[in-house]
Amino acid sequence: MSDQAQTPIISMRGVSKAFGANVVYQGMDIDVYRGETLTILGGSGTGKSVALKLMIGLLRAEEGSVHVNGEEVAEMGADSLRKLRQDLSMVFQGGALFDSMSVLENVGYALTEHTQMSDAEIRDRAEECLEMVGLGLSENPDILETFPANLSGGMRKRVALARSIAIKPAVILYDEPTTGLDPPNCDRISMMIRHLQEQLSVTSVVVTHDIDTAFYVSDRMAMLHDHRFPWVARTEDFRQIEDEVVRDFIVRRTR
Ligand SMILES: Nc1ncnc2c1ncn2[C@@H]1O[C@H](COP(=O)(O)OP(=O)(O)O)[C@@H](O)[C@H]1O
Ligand SMILES: [Mg+2]
Repeated sequence: MSDQAQTPIISMRGVSKAFGANVVYQGMDIDVYRGETLTILGGSGTGKSVALKLMIGLLRAEEGSVHVNGEEVAEMGADSLRKLRQDLSMVFQGGALFDSMSVLENVGYALTEHTQMSDAEIRDRAEECLEMVGLGLSENPDILETFPANLSGGMRKRVALARSIAIKPAVILYDEPTTGLDPPNCDRISMMIRHLQEQLSVTSVVVTHDIDTAFYVSDRMAMLHDHRFPWVARTEDFRQIEDEVVRDFIVRRTR
């Protein structure tokens, strides 16, 4: 659970980011506390994916600071950045997989690259992660040997999720994890996010426009508006916000 007295694991202060004349952030602040699930809400094109990319140093802010574990991301060298990207795993919006690799190779990728695990251990871990995203071997006996081109869009997305959790990162950044999935699989992914938090104390930042998922998984919610996060609140308090912009957003997006 989030504890405001704690030091945040991710802290952004006074962040400004623009692409040419397109201002995405201006004086934006946000904190992510260890062990919490924070959801970022906001309309299309407002900067949700950019926020996650700033957190893992894929994009640089023009102004302000982005600290992860107390360290300024902009000042990290190659080694620190590599370490950062092992600790913080990002599930990209498109859920890109390596097309030339099987599901097993995709899910096991980070384990092969960054650990000393044996092939058998990697296979076990891959099976376990696939089970968590609803692609267990009992119902999908050939899944490990299948290539991404032969999977449906929803399955590719779930394999990408399995790949991101395989290395047991401390922080997972989920970019629209349920978009394009049918309701049972949306619920399965929501449950998986909760499970990872409760069982493994994973810290999560979830970008979504699915309000049901947001309310289910979040300890706190933040809504992006006017290049900042004017509303950040614990989930039960977020529900009570009476501002029209927030109310409209919640009403329009409820499944
Ligand atoms: N690499 C980039 N180069 C130029 N513009 C970008 C880049 N990434 C994002 N943008 C722009 O920044 C804005 C926010 O993008 P994004 O964070 O992807 O929105 P969303 O909230 O839908 O995830 C959009 O106007 C987008 O076009
Ligand atoms: Mg996006």
